[in-house]
Amino acid sequence: MNVAIVVAAGSGTRLGGNRPKQFLELGGVPIIIHALRQFERCHDINEIVTVLPAEATAGFSSQAKAFGLRKLSRVVAGGETRAQSVRHGLAAISDAEIVAVHDGVRPFVTPEEIARVVQAAKASGAAVLVAPVADTIKEVEGNRIVRTVTRSSLRRALTPQCFRLEILQRAYEALDQAEAAGVEVTDESFLVERLGVEIVAVEGSARNIKITREEDLTLAEAILESVVRGQ
Ligand code: C5P
Repeated sequence: MNVAIVVAAGSGTRLGGNRPKQFLELGGVPIIIHALRQFERCHDINEIVTVLPAEATAGFSSQAKAFGLRKLSRVVAGGETRAQSVRHGLAAISDAEIVAVHDGVRPFVTPEEIARVVQAAKASGAAVLVAPVADTIKEVEGNRIVRTVTRSSLRRALTPQCFRLEILQRAYEALDQAEAAGVEVTDESFLVERLGVEIVAVEGSARNIKITREEDLTLAEAILESVVRGQ
């Protein structure tokens, strides 16, 4: 059995306003519902756990049912950081072969992409969806450029990130120590890399954007329109 953890417990303050971005609507449907639907449609996912702000958990299951989501098995409250929210989701899983972790603010991942990452993790233990980097990347100190990083070997880490349950549990044992040392844990791969486990990079589409800022919403509306038109 493969389980998805869809994290959507952020406060979303970067977009302004007082509604977290995962609950804003795109084409009349909340962004989090769009994201959950992609996992619902993926045959390689059996169950979904979603992580929400504590105040948003009540009533979410029935809202999800109304949108036709049948695989949603648990709705749990999030933590202070994204990684802590993932850990809350992980604690709700007692049995799984592969766990797929996804950002609830990435509504355009496709069921086919999810399946490819799950299959890669089944074969190797760990796999992450990635996309190429279009810009030249500079390392800076203050306002000075100190280095250019070779672009061809760089990838942007997207989600889902998929792992055998045991690997993800072991990786998260180091979370408290990492956060106490001031390390910002922005994805699962980072903790799994520290275990020395090999992680397969699965090429995904740049359409799988993370809706973070105001301008992302405009782009998201354009992507949704092209998806609806079947382009
Ligand atoms: O903060 P960031 O943009 O990296 O958030 C990525 C995802 O993690 C979002 O879906 C957000 O709702 C979620 N998150 C969470 N708990 C937090 C912070 C972020 O579930 N404490």
